[in-house]
Amino acid sequence: MKNIKKIRQDFPFFNHNPDMIYFDNAATTHKPNSVIESISKYYSYYNSNVHRGIYKIAEKATHEFELTRDVVKDFIGSKNRESIIFTSGATESINLVAHGWGKHHLSSGDHILLSQMEHHSNIVPWHMIAKNLGLNIDFIPIADNGELDLSHIDQLITSKTKLISIVHQSNVLGTINPIKTIIKKAHEKGALVLIDGAQSVAHQEINVIDLDCDFFVFSGHKIYGPTGVGVLYSKLDVLNQMQPIVGGGEMIKEVTNTGFTLNHLPWRFEAGTPPISEVIALKEAIKYIQELGVSNIFEYENKLIKRAENQLLDIKGIKIYSPNKNKGPTIAFNIDNIHSYDLTKVLDEMKVAIRSGHHCAQPLMDTIGISSSNRISLSFYNTLDEIDNFISKINKSLDILI
Ligand code: ALA
Repeated sequence: MKNIKKIRQDFPFFNHNPDMIYFDNAATTHKPNSVIESISKYYSYYNSNVHRGIYKIAEKATHEFELTRDVVKDFIGSKNRESIIFTSGATESINLVAHGWGKHHLSSGDHILLSQMEHHSNIVPWHMIAKNLGLNIDFIPIADNGELDLSHIDQLITSKTKLISIVHQSNVLGTINPIKTIIKKAHEKGALVLIDGAQSVAHQEINVIDLDCDFFVFSGHKIYGPTGVGVLYSKLDVLNQMQPIVGGGEMIKEVTNTGFTLNHLPWRFEAGTPPISEVIALKEAIKYIQELGVSNIFEYENKLIKRAENQLLDIKGIKIYSPNKNKGPTIAFNIDNIHSYDLTKVLDEMKVAIRSGHHCAQPLMDTIGISSSNRISLSFYNTLDEIDNFISKINKSLDILI
């Protein structure tokens, strides 16, 4: 991997905040110059709508926009560009599946299986359709070590189970779930599987064909791209059985006074003017990651999180909720009975940004038996020195708080 000092120079955020330790990458990541410049270039040189104009700048906008679809396709190992739908983020992607697929394929008595470590965005859309359709929702439990407890998975997936929707890497604990095993078991019983890749896609190689998942979702802003853009991947035959949930321009072939016909894939799910500059810039974010090499990123971030974990474990009264293996660069913890907000606020005064709270995962917090935790989530632009500095700042904070 490139030298970290050089990498940080690619991110203007660090030039403007040279003393800041930013450990909240699970919430959002910083953007390299190439992403920021790509947005500025679009608005400065060829701002125009896509898929409509036949003048040159509009054709360029369409070309750059559609190029991102190919880049995403290759990045996640999809076979077809038509399998890549642009949305506003992972949340909208899951909602599109719930309302565009779920409402048409699920009926009273059907069963959806989630896990006890889901983000609210992979719980609420299912609650929203479950009541009206008469669906049952179950949750794969978690074990005390922060990993999923799969000991009863064969009983949890029944002949009524139509969908398993599960997070790849927990946004709170960092746990990397054995999704390939779960996908295989689901398919044996005829259930489809949605993988929430919002937290995994920036940290490990994804190959949707190898995984054989039916849906895979992620957000651009968590992989060094802009906010407001995300992806829904799905198999073509599944997408062909889904209905759009937003109607308007772009998603139609023909509209008459009495009805309309649907456009081809993928555009039938992209009604209205899309987030053009965001989609265009997303490809720069992906190219940046690809140049560093996802496996290099995985290895380096693993080194970072191990160092953080070893030093955190030396702190008296610490409780770490994350597993000690099979995890991404994320650790959730509390220290003694210090409220996570207090620690985070004191650290903020020392220019350290970490997250505290329920992390949009209240059912997980309930299961652990806490209402909030601190969380650090790292990236390839963080350094071993930052970890050491962070630990000494935690110790200083404890002098104030205890
Ligand atoms: N899902 C984001 C997080 O975990 C916002 O912080």
